[in-house]
This record gives sequence, C-alpha cells and structure tokens, in this order.
Amino acid sequence: MTAISRTSVQDLHEKYRDGETLTMLTAYDAPVAAQVDAGGVDIILVGDSAADNHHGHDDTLPLTMDEAVSNTAAVDRAVEEAMVVGDMPFGSYGASMAESVQNATRFMKEAGADAVKLETAPHGETTIEVVDRLTELGVPTMGHVGFTPQRMRQIGGAYIQGRGEASSAHVDALVETAEALAEAGAFAVVLETVTEETGRRVTEAIDVPTIGIGAGRHVDGQVLVTNDVLGLGGAGFKLAKQYADLDSTIREAVAEYVADVENGEFPARENVFDPVEE
Ligand code: KIV
Repeated sequence: MTAISRTSVQDLHEKYRDGETLTMLTAYDAPVAAQVDAGGVDIILVGDSAADNHHGHDDTLPLTMDEAVSNTAAVDRAVEEAMVVGDMPFGSYGASMAESVQNATRFMKEAGADAVKLETAPHGETTIEVVDRLTELGVPTMGHVGFTPQRMRQIGGAYIQGRGEASSAHVDALVETAEALAEAGAFAVVLETVTEETGRRVTEAIDVPTIGIGAGRHVDGQVLVTNDVLGLGGAGFKLAKQYADLDSTIREAVAEYVADVENGEFPARENVFDPVEE
C-alpha cells in the first residue's frame, strides 16, 4: 500500500488529536509556495484571496475558476510536504450540485490539489449539502464560517461576527453551521473574524479542527494570508502579524538595479558572455 506523500487528512487529524496546533498559510504561485512549504506549514491554501493579493482586484469576488485552477496547479508543482487546498471561487459552487462537483473535482484532476475549501453562510443549507456530496465522492472538503468574504456585498463589510446586537443568536447559528459542516464531512473548518468567545465555542462544539484567522487563541490552528506575513502588497488583515518587509526589500533592490544600469555598473564583466577585451 502506498500512502500519499503530502500531508493527509489523517495526518492533520492525528496532530489535532495529539493536541498540536495546525498551521496554514496561503500561496498563489510556485516560488512563494516552495518557501512556505520549506518553512514547515501543515496546509497551503491557494486562497481566493489571490484575487486581491495576486491579481490586483479590490476583493475576492472576481476570481475565475480558470485563474484558481491555474494558481493551484502552480502551487502543486512546488509543494512536497504540505497539504494543498484549492479555494472555490465565488459562484463556482451552489448554483447546482453538478456544477459544484465538476468545479471541485477540477482542483484535484487538473491542478493536483489534495482538498478544496468553500464558504458557508449561517445555516447555509446548499453549501452544507455540497460538502456532504463532495465528501461522499472522495473530495476532502474544508468549511469556512464566520466572516465569509464572498458575501461581503451582502454583509456590508468585513464585520466582526458574533459581536453586537443579536450576537447570541448569531453565535448560535455559527456553532450550528460548523456542527452541520462537520457532520456533512468537512475535515476542518476555517473560522474568520469572530470574537474570541465565538472561536472557543465553535471549537468546543465540533470534533474536527478549527483553523482561525482573527478568531482568537482558543482554536485548533491558525491561518494568515502570506502577503500579510511577508509585508508584501501593502496593508492587509489588521490582526495579522508581519514577519518581514518584502515591499521595502523589493523596492530597494529595484532602485539599486536601476541605479546600477543607469551608472553603467551593470552589466559588469562577470555578467557578460565572452567579454570583449578593451
Ligand atoms: O482566501 C483566503 O485567503 C482565505 C483565508 C483568509 C482563510 O480564505
């Protein structure tokens, strides 16, 4: 019997049962994915956040299936260890079961993904049914509740879920939705932008790992957008921790290159094939 070479659902669940915290970061292309993988994360999410962090849009909505599959295939070619999860774009699931299944399986058949992720609104029956069907068909599926950016226009902004008026009913709905997703077969559930108490309640309620972004400390794993971690592309998620400043590194390197070319310092003798002796 051959075990799959990259991190599997079983490996993640073993870590979870052992009380180890899971780590997930995004990547949208091969060079970044290779370094994120070498850094040792458990899961690489080829997020629909590619739309704003990679393709230059204002939010996640415009990402197409072809772009998502192409980004995922690039990441797949570079990753040896981590699980690669393809993120289903806005409108690519839910219209019909057939289309949802076709699009989800494209991530595995065409792009080599190990799993997919999709967002679910509170009590979102359609997407819970999709998770159920995908699970039955052998597509490992990750849920995503709380603030779900694909519903940004409907919600009116990136609001903290579980806070303010009617919060107790809303938190109950988030807990029930996460429970339904776990029951439908989701192997993990992303919890985005919720109060720490909501994160704790959902985590206690379900028996698959929760992976939080802006969900506090009482969850089973953490995810961030790699651009925010690396300081690439300007201000990102408010609660992210930035570990590098690639914007400055790139800008300074480019300015040095421009100056070298303009001053005749590049190309130098060692950058030339068969240099002409003056
Ligand atoms: O697309 C993405 O980057 C995400 C994470 C924020 C979880 O869905």
